[in-house]
Amino acid sequence: MSQSAVYAPSPEFVQNALVKGMEGYRALYDRAAEQPEQFWGELAEKELVWDEKWSQVCEWNPPFAKWFTGGKLNAAYNCLDRHLATPRKNKIAILWEGEPGDQRLISYQELHRLVCRFANVLKSRGLTTGDRAIIYMPMIPELPVAMLACARLGIIHSVVFGGFSAEALKARIRDLGASVVVTADGGWRRAKEVKLKPAVDEALTECPGVKNVIVYRRTGGEITMQDGRDHWWHDLDADEGISDFCPAVPVDSEHPLYVLYTSGTTGQPKGILHTTAGYLLQTMMTMKWVFDLKEEDTYWCSADIGWVTGHSYVVYGPLAAGATSVMYEGAPDTPAVDRWWRLIEKHRVSIFYTSPTAIRSLIRQGEQWPDKHDLSSLRLLGSVGEPINPAAWEWYYRVIGKNRCPIVDTWWQTETGAIMISAMPGAIPLKPGSGTLPLPGISMDVVDMDGNPAGTDKEGFLVIRKPWPAMIRTIWGDPDRYQQQYWSRMPGVYFSGDAARRDSDGYFWVLGRVDDVMNVSGHRLSTMEVESALVHHPAVAEAAVVAKPHEITGQAVCCFVTLKQGYTDHQALGAELRKWVAHEIGAFARPEEIRFTDALPKTRSGKIMRRLLREIVTTHTVTGDVTTLEDLSVVARLSAQREE
Ligand code: WTA
Repeated sequence: MSQSAVYAPSPEFVQNALVKGMEGYRALYDRAAEQPEQFWGELAEKELVWDEKWSQVCEWNPPFAKWFTGGKLNAAYNCLDRHLATPRKNKIAILWEGEPGDQRLISYQELHRLVCRFANVLKSRGLTTGDRAIIYMPMIPELPVAMLACARLGIIHSVVFGGFSAEALKARIRDLGASVVVTADGGWRRAKEVKLKPAVDEALTECPGVKNVIVYRRTGGEITMQDGRDHWWHDLDADEGISDFCPAVPVDSEHPLYVLYTSGTTGQPKGILHTTAGYLLQTMMTMKWVFDLKEEDTYWCSADIGWVTGHSYVVYGPLAAGATSVMYEGAPDTPAVDRWWRLIEKHRVSIFYTSPTAIRSLIRQGEQWPDKHDLSSLRLLGSVGEPINPAAWEWYYRVIGKNRCPIVDTWWQTETGAIMISAMPGAIPLKPGSGTLPLPGISMDVVDMDGNPAGTDKEGFLVIRKPWPAMIRTIWGDPDRYQQQYWSRMPGVYFSGDAARRDSDGYFWVLGRVDDVMNVSGHRLSTMEVESALVHHPAVAEAAVVAKPHEITGQAVCCFVTLKQGYTDHQALGAELRKWVAHEIGAFARPEEIRFTDALPKTRSGKIMRRLLREIVTTHTVTGDVTTLEDLSVVARLSAQREE
């Protein structure tokens, strides 16, 4: 083993674990590597319910993969109906708590009923297989209900995180060609109503394709409803024709399940397409392998369903696996900073999965808060979204896990659909800061510029060599961008955009993005997206955006801005531009820092040298090659300048 601290699973944990010891892991991994089609085929047969069996496990025409071709099934059926013939029918599927303290414990039986009713509502509005729905909702049970109702009918859903602005919502509605938007009046956050419907109204002024808006009443706040277009969920649901049962439509294995927009390296977000069978199988299997799921577990993934983590590990993975999935609507510090610990204590949560940013902000609140609560129900902890620094890892392990809960650090992406690198907690010894090893069936590597393995402890690009069931199928409407973005560096090899190294035990250490994608609080944001928002503002001539290291959120958005003639009030404009970006993209994208400058460092061909700006915000100096720079004095001026 290499030098870092190693945490082996305890004998008790190993004894009860689904996969035991390194031998257990190796046996599975090797089997999957030697006979991938047989490996995934057997799992698909055993773990999913099919209307028609597939004829081929994987068709691989790089970079396009199809899994379980010829098969038919339904994702909602696999998440709900199949449990109803078992004792799970009365098990809690979704254990929800609203921020004000209201709670709903929804059994599989009841969730099935809610989903069927809403599927009937969608049908009553004329929606059918292949149509597209945008879902823009707070973290309330009706959000997974809407997703599963779409899946039940083969309607392709795209959930837009409630923190996105009207502008961002509009772009997604248009790109997807959605004909229906499912939303709510608003939700609760920090004891205030956060309205959603007004953003829908604003977005829809330029979305003629949307014929129906269905609005769930959550807060009771004042909103406007447009006659003929907007309908209250409860009104449609009250119609006599809406029954408690709706047949699940069998769809092809490769039928699109959802599109989720994420930031790429341009200003235009990309719609990541996931299809039905492979996605469902891999999210379900990783749910078992990574979280060592037991029937009696109460599992809580704190992610918002607006991001991929919520799709795969609040909704599809846990429900397919028959778990109890906890959902919380609001902020972690409302009414007090121990709200999460209260939730864990109250509901006896046994598996807790969150982000390093959340952990770091909880560290800052102090140990007295978790110490006030009985967290003894916890048996497993997880981390996702960004590299976790060893100090945060150790705190999580000691203060929350009481030195007895393994921590699974899970590496994956919107594009991978499911967890790719993670410890199997009963099998793989942990090292703080490392995701450890790839899961069975997953062929990961770290390579140099030429695509050759980088070698022990050498930094390189994190790549995936073989197709995997939950992989991205394409970028919605843009197969060329899909090919170019992920598969053009090395033919037949998936390029993740992350840098990583492997140590002498083969463990992966993910270092972060190597492209122009920032990671703020575990949320992906492209520098170009923020730049194009900034240059939309009438005062801005040019903008360059880079990520700056941040103690809590991992990275923060730092903008360098040149102004047009006649604009001089830096203080007022700084505040205004921050607001502007929040309006254009969403509040989570609000820049931490705006620096005004009279020029940006550019190459002679006019390209902004972001690398230099990154160095300036990180180290306040510039090293390395600046010979291509057009005007060297710009860098000197920028480095001398501190925050305004
Ligand atoms: C980063 C979130 C280190 C990584 C599931 C990746 C991580 C991006 C980890 C994807 C981890 C995610 N350790 N880095 N355990 N998990 N990342 O699409 O840079 O929102 O490329 O998916 O987050 O972000 P996305």
